[in-house]
Amino acid sequence: MNEVEFKDRVAIVTGAGGGLGKSHALALAKRGVKIVVNDLGGAVDGSGSSATMAENVAKEIKDAGGDAIANGANVTNQEDVEAMVGEAIDHFGHVDILVNNAGILRDKSFAKMAMDDFRSVLDVHVMGSAICTKAVWAHMREREYGRIAMTSSSSGMYGNFGQSNYGAAKAGLSGFMRTLCLEGAKYNIKVNALSPVAATRMTEDLMPPEILAMLDVESVSQGLVYLVCDDAPNRTILVAGAGGYAATKVFETDGVSFAPGEQTAENVAANWSKIISEDNMVEMTQGGMQGEKLLKRAAALKS
Ligand code: NAI
Repeated sequence: MNEVEFKDRVAIVTGAGGGLGKSHALALAKRGVKIVVNDLGGAVDGSGSSATMAENVAKEIKDAGGDAIANGANVTNQEDVEAMVGEAIDHFGHVDILVNNAGILRDKSFAKMAMDDFRSVLDVHVMGSAICTKAVWAHMREREYGRIAMTSSSSGMYGNFGQSNYGAAKAGLSGFMRTLCLEGAKYNIKVNALSPVAATRMTEDLMPPEILAMLDVESVSQGLVYLVCDDAPNRTILVAGAGGYAATKVFETDGVSFAPGEQTAENVAANWSKIISEDNMVEMTQGGMQGEKLLKRAAALKS
């Protein structure tokens, strides 16, 4: 069996004042990880703030014999996030793990959505994760150790009615994660994403109570614990919910290539079933693979 270990590790968990973030923080603390419990303490839509959410979770960890400090930084505020990372290093000596979990929801059909609601959701999920990651990146590179988790969503991978802003943000995190994996590889920085399904204040109005009762946060956090452990995987989007675990992967169809002179919309239309055929699909592990495939076939058609 794979060991799930943490040797003297310190984690920053954003949005850890409640819901999944709190559960992640408690699960990591239980395994001896020292925790910076970050939370702005606002409402689901991101309005308001309060220090008590983060403080209560830090207290709960300490009362159970763990080590934690509370932090109320807004993840979109670069200065405050940098101060949080500085405080974590002053207090614990290093930061090994970053769990980008903070998030907000402003659901509306796209027709009714104000661009401010679109921008705010992207700001918290995408810019918040980028700002927090940037604040630990140089430190992790120097120490040649880092474990980072993004929080994605099925909406980002597959779409969900009323969540154009949220879907765009969550898909953005997948591309961010996959690129960081490549750039962090030689520094032993592993980057993954979690795609959770859980009963929290974010989902309490979306599903009936009997379904919510099956969607505990604790089992989701066990998946997160593995994504950031010493022997963590890399560039995986782990789906976790109701005790189930799966991975979201990106495949590309084999497609077709046409010789010069045959590259017309009519030929694209005529070959549509071949273009979208799932025969010989390949999992893409970096952007360059696509260009390589297309150029190789273009060269073969020329010769
Ligand atoms: P939640 O609302 O309980 O947790 C989000 C936390 O982030 C809150 O405690 C909130 O105060 C904090 N937060 C929001 N904006 C912040 C900011 N600017 N700076 C610092 N903290 C901030 O909801 P939940 O469900 O626990 O969500 C956690 C993450 O999981 C989010 O990224 C969410 O999008 C994602 N997610 C949740 C799903 C679910 O089924 N619950 C499904 C897919 C994704």
